[in-house]
Amino acid sequence: MSDDLEILRQDVLSELAGATDLRAWDAVRVGTLGKSGRLTGLLKALGKMQPDERKARGVALNRLRDELTQAVEARGKELEAAALQARLIAEKLDVTVPPPAEVAGYIHPISRTIEEMTAIFGVMGFQVAEGPDIETDWHNFSALNTPDHHPARTDHDTFYLPPSPGLDVTRVLRTQTSGVQIRTMLGQKPPIRIIAPGRTYRADHDATHSPMFHQCEGLVVGQGITLGHLKGCLIEFLRAFFGKPSLPVRFRSSYFPFTEPSLEVDIGWSRKTGEIGGGEDWLEVLGAGMVHARVLANCGLDPCVWQGFAFGMGVERLAMLKNGIPDLRSFYESDIRWLRHYGADPLAPALLHEGV
Ligand code: DAH
Repeated sequence: MSDDLEILRQDVLSELAGATDLRAWDAVRVGTLGKSGRLTGLLKALGKMQPDERKARGVALNRLRDELTQAVEARGKELEAAALQARLIAEKLDVTVPPPAEVAGYIHPISRTIEEMTAIFGVMGFQVAEGPDIETDWHNFSALNTPDHHPARTDHDTFYLPPSPGLDVTRVLRTQTSGVQIRTMLGQKPPIRIIAPGRTYRADHDATHSPMFHQCEGLVVGQGITLGHLKGCLIEFLRAFFGKPSLPVRFRSSYFPFTEPSLEVDIGWSRKTGEIGGGEDWLEVLGAGMVHARVLANCGLDPCVWQGFAFGMGVERLAMLKNGIPDLRSFYESDIRWLRHYGADPLAPALLHEGV
C-alpha cells in the first residue's frame, strides 16, 4: 500500500477509535466514505490515471475501502449498543421514587376515614374483619334477629338478587355490615374484637342517600362485657376521631333488632356554626347496643356465658362531619378538584389523635 493510503488508513482508524458518540462517528463516516469523503475523492481520481498505474492503485484502494467500510460499520454498532445501554440506565423506571408534589395523587376521604377508624380501633386491640358484598338474607337479616315482616326487608330498601338455579338461598346486596358480626362469630371463638369497614347498598337515592355507601361495624364478644365497656370504647373512639379530648358524647336508648338494649350515640355540636364539640346541640353519629341473646345463640354462643356489644356507623357521614363536606353525592363524582381539596396526602399516615 502506498504511503498516502497507509496514512489515510491510520487516520481513519484512529478517528473512529476517538469517536465516542454516534454523532462523531457519523462525521468520520461521511468524511471518509461519503460523496465528498477522502476515500471517495481518491477513487474518483482513479479515472484520470494511466491504465497500468490505475490498475495497481485501484486494487489497493478497493481493498482499503472494504477495510474502512467494515471498520466504520463495526464501530457504529458498538456505539449504538453503548447508546442503548445508556438510555436503559437513564430511563429506568424506579417505582419507589415518590412522585413530584404537583402530580401526586390523593387518598379519597372514604379510604382515609376507614384508615383512621382502623388506626384508632387498632390501638384498642381490634382486628379488621371482612364479609361479602353479596350476602344471604340469613346473614343480613334472619341471624341478626330481624323478623320476616321487618320494613328493612322490603324491596323498597333492599336490592334482592334474582334466584339462582340450584341455589335455595335468597341473596341480597348487603344493606348493612352487621352480617359480618354473624360470619365472625360463626368463624372464630370468642374473645372477639373486630371492626368491619365496607360497602353497603340500599335502594335509596337523594341528596343524603346513595344506593352504595360505606359502614364500619364493630363487635366485641367476651365474658363479663358490659354497657360500660361499650360506652368507654365509643367515647374514646369519637374523641380520638374528631381530635377533641373533651368532646361531649350522649347515649340515647333506641331500637335495633340485633341489640338489647340498643343505643343511639350523639356528639355535641353547634347547629349555628356547625362546630363539632361546641354549642348546645346534639348530632346523631352511630348506633350501638349489647348483642342480643338470640343473635349470640344463632351463632352457637351461650348467652349465659358470653356477652358482647356491637356498633355501626356510616363512613361517609363521619367523613362529612370531620372534613366539612356538604354533599354526599360529591363522594362518588370523581371530580379531581374535589379530591384535591378534600383528599389526603398519600404519604402521610392516618392521624392518631391524642387520647388513644
Ligand atoms: N346496622 C345498623 C344500620 O345499618 C347500624 C348498627 C346499629 C349496627 C346498632 C350495630 C348496632 O352493630 O349495634 O343502621
